[in-house]
Amino acid sequence: MKLLRLIANLGYGSRKEVTQLFREGRITDATGEVLYADDKVAHADIRVDGGPLDPPTGLVLLMHKPVGYTCSRKDAGRLVYDLLPPRWRRREPALSTVGRLDRDTSGLLLLTDDGALLHRIISPKASVAKIYEATLARDLRGDEGDLFASGTLMLESETTPLAPARLEVLEPRRARLTVTEGRYHQVRRMFAATGNHVEALERVAIGRLGLDGLAPGGWRALDPAEVARVFD
Ligand code: URA
Repeated sequence: MKLLRLIANLGYGSRKEVTQLFREGRITDATGEVLYADDKVAHADIRVDGGPLDPPTGLVLLMHKPVGYTCSRKDAGRLVYDLLPPRWRRREPALSTVGRLDRDTSGLLLLTDDGALLHRIISPKASVAKIYEATLARDLRGDEGDLFASGTLMLESETTPLAPARLEVLEPRRARLTVTEGRYHQVRRMFAATGNHVEALERVAIGRLGLDGLAPGGWRALDPAEVARVFD
């Protein structure tokens, strides 16, 4: 790909604006040599204003989504994209969230510009485990685990029962729940179906990939070995 298009696609500006960056000599190689729009240079050797070029496409980000942020590009309030460098909102192909977490849910969120990977993770056929920890308004009754594991629980206004899910009771009002689907407000609706109410919800892992101490609002790029843990 031509340097001009590569750099414009990474969100540094329109083609016209990036042309101007070349003219001003702000795009160089690692030794400081000025580059031109049709030069061919390895991604890792390109500098803009002396800094490394943003990561190439095929980006997978692990984010600790805080409560109060929406997994949307154009909601009125705070968006998970606000936590990333502003330029990244203009990347082509675009970064998308891998599924969604509710505004009031915190925890592990993946973002990627790799559409095939995104579909592999969210596809119901892949049965990727999503692990949540819920804080409940009332003590667990004791029969929730069997109900969730049964594969017969039908949520309101749905036509097919939920796939079996695994419940681990952590405390009378705290539980860890592993689901393999991603239905709308699924975890909150599962507990609502048992007469309970989720007061706080955090996703702690997808597959064997966890947050590993990443603070709320934090994010980092994953390497392929880390991405593979999603499917373990
Ligand atoms: N289930 C929910 O109810 N909310 C989420 O954000 C994710 C799963």
